[in-house]
Formats: sequence, structure tokens, C-alpha cells
Amino acid sequence: MSDAPTSQPIRIDAGGWGLSWVADDDGRLHQLGLGPEGHTVPLEVGAQWYPLAFPTLDGTDPFRPPALQITHADGTLTTRLALTAVERDDDPSGSHVVVRTTDERFDLTVEHHFRSHPDSGVLEQWAEVFHVEDGPVTLLAHDTLALFLMVPDDAELVQFGGAGWADEWRWSTDPLTIGTTVLGSLGGVQPHLQRSPCLLLSPAGPFGGPDGAVAQDEGEVIGLSVAWGGNSHLTLDVKPRAELDAPRELRLRAGANALGAPYRLDPGVRMVLPTVAWTWSTTGRDGVTEAFHRWSRDRVLRDPDRLRPLVVNNWEATFFDFDESRIVGLIDRAADLGADVFLLDDGWFGTTHPRDDDTQGLGDWDHDVRKLPGGLAPLADAAAARGIRFGIWVEPEMVNPLSELHEAHPEWELRDGREPRLHRHQLHLDPLQPDVRDFEVGVVDRTLASAPSTSYVKWDANRPITDPGSRALPTDRQANVWFDHVGATWDVMARVAEGHPDVELMLCASGGGRVDHGTLRWFHEFWTSDNTDPVTRVRMQWACSHFFPGAVMAAHVTRWGERPLPFACAVALSGRFGIDLDLGAVSAEEDAVLRRAVAWARRTQDVVQRGVVRRYVSPVEGPDRSRAAWSVHGDDGRVAVFAFQLDEPATSAPTLRVRGLDPAASYEVRATDLDGFDETSTATGAELTDGIAWPLDAPLTARLWELTPTDPA
Ligand code: GLA
Repeated sequence: MSDAPTSQPIRIDAGGWGLSWVADDDGRLHQLGLGPEGHTVPLEVGAQWYPLAFPTLDGTDPFRPPALQITHADGTLTTRLALTAVERDDDPSGSHVVVRTTDERFDLTVEHHFRSHPDSGVLEQWAEVFHVEDGPVTLLAHDTLALFLMVPDDAELVQFGGAGWADEWRWSTDPLTIGTTVLGSLGGVQPHLQRSPCLLLSPAGPFGGPDGAVAQDEGEVIGLSVAWGGNSHLTLDVKPRAELDAPRELRLRAGANALGAPYRLDPGVRMVLPTVAWTWSTTGRDGVTEAFHRWSRDRVLRDPDRLRPLVVNNWEATFFDFDESRIVGLIDRAADLGADVFLLDDGWFGTTHPRDDDTQGLGDWDHDVRKLPGGLAPLADAAAARGIRFGIWVEPEMVNPLSELHEAHPEWELRDGREPRLHRHQLHLDPLQPDVRDFEVGVVDRTLASAPSTSYVKWDANRPITDPGSRALPTDRQANVWFDHVGATWDVMARVAEGHPDVELMLCASGGGRVDHGTLRWFHEFWTSDNTDPVTRVRMQWACSHFFPGAVMAAHVTRWGERPLPFACAVALSGRFGIDLDLGAVSAEEDAVLRRAVAWARRTQDVVQRGVVRRYVSPVEGPDRSRAAWSVHGDDGRVAVFAFQLDEPATSAPTLRVRGLDPAASYEVRATDLDGFDETSTATGAELTDGIAWPLDAPLTARLWELTPTDPA
């Protein structure tokens, strides 16, 4: 349905909150409202008095960076957009509103798209730019959105990211200071190793109360995720106002990071900017979590109703050092333990350049006949004979210089005219070349064809882009590679997903280097981080789970950190559970722990993967970060509760008050530490909400509870 442009406000109901825009007499769009009542707020003064909805370089606000900055074909630097149409399509799951604006002087259109999903409260917003000017235009900034907020001087921001590899999702709460804060990621491929494209913002004051303790289920919290598998940015530009104690002005821009990459857009080509998914919770971070989980399941995940498998992986057990009999031995043990999938990692390929370490062989996807004389088929058969599935690791986008592929196709590299730099001894193939894309799809096709019962693939990408340059682009469009490589790579991933609809895909990029809601659309789950130290993992998974549900957050038991095995298992059980141990070398005692963990996974994985998360004790904020606790609530009333003692406590023990229970219901309460303690009792919902005394004092211990209603209504 199409409406004529109007002076009436454009209202987007995002489900419990929303936003309104209104055009002034010149057709310029202003942000009338934003927040819990943002979609219903009345127009009280002339539209021109409200802040701009999407500032361009148009002469009105010379003191702030614009969301859109275009050099037009004739060299004009300014862009003045006016509303030309509003279209609205409603369907049972929400509405799609398109707000179309056109430049006053040039035939250049910017469309703002809003896709609401009221069931979750997450709004998808993106922009599309196209033109028919006399030649290409250059985009120097191309943000998806530019929100305007008034925030108190104690508003806070949570960002996620550490030093790089093995340090994903490091939590950091910071005051929203005056000036400009840019949460930017670079590197093109695996940008999220450095910084996740997600943030949390407290628009109404600090997250914590006077004692610093954060009420996880109270208060206003904005959660924002840039669904982009390349360089992204979240930029917060804060200005004070003249009056003392007056709220500050915040302009929040987000989208693809155009830094150093002016984009040349040809006439007739539509540039679709990344989707930003965001929500405004009035029930704290629990509300943000629930919204993003619900939306991810409904709008992002492949096969959302399919329970994710219990995966045994050989990487940490063998690295590159294995042969057929060792792998068959591990498959045996995995099947005996009750796994669903055995995943063979890196090191299985390479002919003239066998992949015995990471220096060679990448690109040559024929099996290494020394390690695996019969190829992958005997392994897949061995798995099938033991009743489990076989999975395989690939890294289709990369090549070692020491490879037959490189010898045959040196022109396939992503590089400029210089000698490219190696990272992990490898180069990046250029996905803008159609032959390269076909090759990458072919890597998966032929690997699966060589062992047709294979039904799980781990897709890795182990280096950033350091030598931007593509033979597929003309000289004046080389910088487009930073934006266009994402779409080209998504095209390859989409073809793989469509070609193998029943094969489960795990997304990995040196760990969690590509964890975003855009790329995830073609995958079933992701490898959260190569860092599997359970102490670190509790903190990472606590952070990551604000945006992604347990079903997609792969968590494997390893020896990393040499932590006690029951504790390591308990931590992995709070995500998509798996094991990456040398199962041939575990003691009888350890074997018993693993069996308890597998049994626990079997009983609870539907709840843990799909349930509603409620948070109690944060391991990343406040004076005492030695503990963590949360619960996950299934549709049928069953609940899994997790408590971890990570370190020596600095404060007295909390009481765990489990929320979201029916006070009158009776629950069977089964508690375990996976180390021999296993007790079952009963309690009412009211008693459990009243509190469970914190049961842990020694560092590196865990307690898991299963609550099962005994009198389901
Ligand atoms: C990356 C991945 C690991 C593993 C290795 C194999 O580092 O993140 O899980 O697959 O590559 O080389």
C-alpha cells in the first residue's frame, strides 16, 4: 500500500516502543519521537523544531559529522533530501515501512526501511541509495541510521571487544562522555575479533543503582546490533547543553564503516546498506536478551526449531597430527559417549603440500593420502556405522602461497600491486571474481560429494584483509572492496546453504571473528571463541548471550586453562554443548564426569538452546566479579539454573532468587556439580524465588539445577 507524502507523522510501532518521523515544509525529515512512547508522541510544535532524522551534509548542522555524505557526479558536496513517498505493508508478523526521500537537485534517492517484529520488540532498519546522475557518485559516509537522544550526564555504554584473537566479547561499561566515541571494526574479514558490532546503552541514567549493582530486569536499555559481516561502526557523538544539569544531546550513528573507503556508486545500481537491529527495553538487559533471542529465532536463524547437536571436535585433541586410525578411534569414543556429530578439523587435505601445519596446503582440497588413504568416506562411514554424523572443517576463502591453487591461480588473490602481506602464512582469495566464488562454493560441494553422508561443516576464515585490491574492480573503485566483499561472500554462503539445505553449518573466523546477525543467516551456529578457558568463557558467553541465543553459541569442553573438568563441562553446558578433548586419553574419573555432562545436556539442551534467559549475578561488573548466575526458562515450565564460582569471592555470597516461576507450582529440584554431587528435592516456585543459598565457595566450581514442574497446569 502506498501513501502520498504527507505532513502527518510517520509512526513505527516496534512492539512496546517505537519512533516517529515528520517532514517539515521543505520535506526534510525530523525525528519527532523515539523510545517507549516514541511512536505515539504528539506533534506539538512545527516539524522544523525537532532534530533531523537523518542528517546529510546539507548546510543545517555544520558542527556534526553527517550520516550520509556524497560527492555527486558533478562534484557537488552537499545533499539535500526531501520526502517523496511513504509505503507501508502490514503482515501478521509486523510491518515494513519505506520512507523515500530524493535530493532537491539530483536524481538521487535514499530509502529508509523499517521492518518491525512486535513479537520480539526488535526493529530492523536499513537504508538503500540509488541514483541516475551523469556518472558515479562517491559516498564518504553511508550510515544506516542516526538516532537523536537526550541523555543524562551519567548515561552509560557497554561495548564488547578486547585485544583480538581469543579475546572476543570482553565486556566494558563506560560513561557516555562528551565528544565522539567510535566503536569501529576494521580488517574486513573477522572484524568482530576486535570489536563486536553490538552495544548496550542506558538512556536514562547509569545501569547500576547507588551501590553499583545492576538490576538485570529493570530500567531502560537500548540494544543495538549491526548485521554486517565486514567493517562496522557505532558512533556516539555527545554534546553538552548550556544549562547546568541539562540532558546531553546524543547522536548515535551506525552502519558499515566507511573509514578510508569512499564508495563509488554507479548510476542505476542500488546500494543496500547493512541492517541495524535494535530494541528499547523497559525491563533491563533481560528484556534486551529476550528480544534479541526471540527475533534471532524468528528472523535470522536457519532451522530455528532444530535442536543443535552435541559435537565432538578433534582440534584441541590432535591439532594437525592424526591419521585414519586415530580419527576412527576418536569417532568410536565420541559415539560411545553419546555425541551426535564428530567434526574433523583442519589438517585433512593437501597433496603436494600436505597440511601438517598452517604453513601450506590451504586451497588444495584433496585429502592427504598419507593421513587418510581412503579419504573422508571411511571416516563418514565409521561415524554412520556407530550411529553418529560426520562433520568436516573447510576454509574456502583462503590460500597458502605454498599450494597448488596458488601456483595455478596467483591472480585469484585479494591484493593490490604490492607484494601482499601474509597472515597465518596465508592470503585471501578475491570474492569479487566470479571464478573465485564458484571455486569457494565448489570446495564445499566436492568435499561433501567425497563423503556424501557428511552433514555438518565448520566454515573458517583465518586472516583479515590487509592488502585491499581487486582485479574485478576498475582503478577508481578499488576502495569498494571493503563494502562489496561482504555481499560477494554472503553470495557464496547463500549458495552453499541453498545447495546443502540439510547440512548444518558452523560459522568460524579464528574463533568469533564473524559473529553478526547478517552472516549468521546462512549458518546454524558459530564458534564463539578459540578461547575455551571456562573462566573466560563464562564472561564471554554472558556478554554474547545478550544478543545471541544458546542454540548458536558453540561451547566446547577443552583443557584450556587446565581447569577442573566438572567446572569446564558446566560452563560448556550453558551454550551449545560440545567436547574437544582427546577422548582416548581421559581417565575413568574424567570419563564419568563427561558422561554426567552428556546426560545433563540431553535432559536440558532444548531449554538451554531456546529458553528465556534471566540474569542474577554478573561476572563482568561491580566490585566482585568472582561469581556468575543465571537461569534459562523453557516453554514447558522447565528451568535450568547455572551458578559459577570463578575466583576467590570479594563480597559475601548472594542468594539466588529465581524469577519467572509460578509461585504456587511445585518443582522437582535436581542439583549437581557433575563431580559426584547429585541431589533431588522439591520446592514451590515461591520458595525458589525466595532464594537458593549460594552453594559455592571454592573457585572453579559450579552448580547446575534442573527445575521440573511436578504439577503442570
Ligand atoms: C581457527 C579456528 C579453530 C581451528 C583452527 C584450525 O583458529 O578458530 O577452531 O579450526 O582454525 O586451523
